[in-house]
Amino acid sequence: MERQGEKHRELLREERQDDLPTDYEYRFITQVDEREKLQTLPRVFKLNLVPTTLEGVAQSRGKHKIFGDHIVYHRLTRAPLYTLTADYYIMSPKAPRRGAHRHVTSRLFYIVRGKGYEKQDGRTFQFKEGDVFVVPPFTVHQHFADPELGCEAFVPKTSTTHFLGLYWREQHEFGENPIFPPGTEPIKDQQGQLIGYRIKKGLHGAKKDIEVYLGVDPKWDEIIKLKREAARWDDEPKTTYDHYLQLSAVENQEWTSQSHVIKGDKVLWENTRQGKIKYLVGPHNPAGKWTHDLFIQEIPPSSRSGKHFHLSEELILILEGRGYDIQEGVRYDWERGDLVCVPVGTVHQHFNADLVKPAKFISAQPRHWADMGYGGFVQLEDAPEYEG
Ligand SMILES: [Fe+2]
Ligand SMILES: [Fe+2]
Repeated sequence: MERQGEKHRELLREERQDDLPTDYEYRFITQVDEREKLQTLPRVFKLNLVPTTLEGVAQSRGKHKIFGDHIVYHRLTRAPLYTLTADYYIMSPKAPRRGAHRHVTSRLFYIVRGKGYEKQDGRTFQFKEGDVFVVPPFTVHQHFADPELGCEAFVPKTSTTHFLGLYWREQHEFGENPIFPPGTEPIKDQQGQLIGYRIKKGLHGAKKDIEVYLGVDPKWDEIIKLKREAARWDDEPKTTYDHYLQLSAVENQEWTSQSHVIKGDKVLWENTRQGKIKYLVGPHNPAGKWTHDLFIQEIPPSSRSGKHFHLSEELILILEGRGYDIQEGVRYDWERGDLVCVPVGTVHQHFNADLVKPAKFISAQPRHWADMGYGGFVQLEDAPEYEG
């Protein structure tokens, strides 16, 4: 993590230099450099347990980890990806209460196991295995696992928002009995009440102490309230500027009318050229607008998906079974619990290696690519079960 942070800052420093190459050849050199780097990175990841954070502790007793973390942050560093990364939350039965916070970015949580509920801006939403819950932008949220069953969730993320400078987040509440990681310390008021924490100079290269206080940031709080109050606007905009004012109202409508839980068992399977697919979040559903599409695919025993190409990258969590991908002619084996990366612009196909059991996975694909005009699939071969 420390090394990644250093690398990131090194890149930032480099980008501040005045003598950046501006010649036309530089883009070809970069293109080749990045492609070569991409080829050296693994495409299949195992669940990676990481230490607890102030947000919460996964288990009820002992020194346990907060969540398994598939994070592949920072473009072309741990994974052959530019925009996608993922968390894997494990909230065990009777685990301490998790913290609450708010950030710009929206999130989609796919419930792999168990059940629980979610508090968002004071409202409560129940979810269970196979559901997706949605955290719309700027929403205060807190996750609760069922005390008996616990809960596990796959949380693919689109780090594009970080490239856009949208890091902003507020901490409203720490997890129950927070453990302060090395390099941090609690801040208490005169009554001994915990009001925040200090990230000490030197941690991940911080140049000074950074104090994080619990509660709302007044500027953002006001802006978010005003945005949420933007009235519905059905008329034609009179001016170009009105178009953008209207957009604020339209976004507000999308935030507030959005279903916060997509019930997996209510979504129908479709027989597609790529195979048997259930789009939990897709073009029909605005939840993906801020992040990505999410679909489940099932491949029958010893069968395969269609073969296709898309410009956008893709991140896949294997839910059941074992098999392999063929990506650009190279085989990559996977099994239940693995995270499989499909890099940008890759011809690929998924194969079930089991003769008896089906293989099942959930896939995330960023929506931004299609919004920019780089969407769509090129179908090179249909799934064997496709009947047209
Ligand atoms: Fe969050
Ligand atoms: Fe794909």
